Amino acid sequence: MFVETYETYNAVSDKTLKGKLVVVIDTLRATSVITTALVNGSKEIIPVADIEEAVNLSYSFDKDEILLGGERNAVKIDGFDLSNSPLEYSKDVVEGKTIILTTTNGTRALKKASSSDDVVVGCLLNVSSIAEYIQKKDKDVVIICAGTEGKFSIDDIITAGAILHRLKELKHYESDDLSKASYFLYESFKDNVLDIMKYGYHLNRIEKLGYHDDVEFCTTIDMFSIVPKYINGVIKIC
Ligand code: MLT
Repeated sequence: MFVETYETYNAVSDKTLKGKLVVVIDTLRATSVITTALVNGSKEIIPVADIEEAVNLSYSFDKDEILLGGERNAVKIDGFDLSNSPLEYSKDVVEGKTIILTTTNGTRALKKASSSDDVVVGCLLNVSSIAEYIQKKDKDVVIICAGTEGKFSIDDIITAGAILHRLKELKHYESDDLSKASYFLYESFKDNVLDIMKYGYHLNRIEKLGYHDDVEFCTTIDMFSIVPKYINGVIKIC
């Protein structure tokens, strides 16, 4: 088994993804939102790239079965039901609902991954479940980090490292240099990932906007044991 890690979704070609198991990571905060919403009983999440597309798609659902969620520049989109804060996706809000989600990087990374037919959604909240899924599948893996504004983001890379750290306990694999760098970054900060994440650009941007509780939440390792799977344009628990 060979694992490759990409620092942004722009860095990956469709050819690279063919036949691979793909893990999409946007720890702050899109993939943490998706994981939390599904744990709290959301029926499904539909990631879309644009606000207009999200709004148009919502018209094909009954009003009481749909929620629009997401962000631009990390803040809630005008007219949407929910922002990109996982804490808003509580059971009383999302249970039984389809959520159409559009975010700056995370949902675009998911769209990019969709040329593979085996795409799962990872974050710090479900590290062990993703590692166990990879172990069972036993095929080559591509980890796509969403990144921030087209650049490497520490929060995503340390999550890739956490997954690879757990995977190493389960299975032998070979990997590329970014996977190894991610592994050793996590290894160095595994007792408190915030000790390194706190220097990240995106984390600081979210903190400045008042989302400190989101940061605390999204950096909790293995809070949940689910594998969200992206199939035919929709994410559900697998
Ligand atoms: C994204 O998809 O760009 C992020 O989830 C942004 C955010 O945290 O609001």
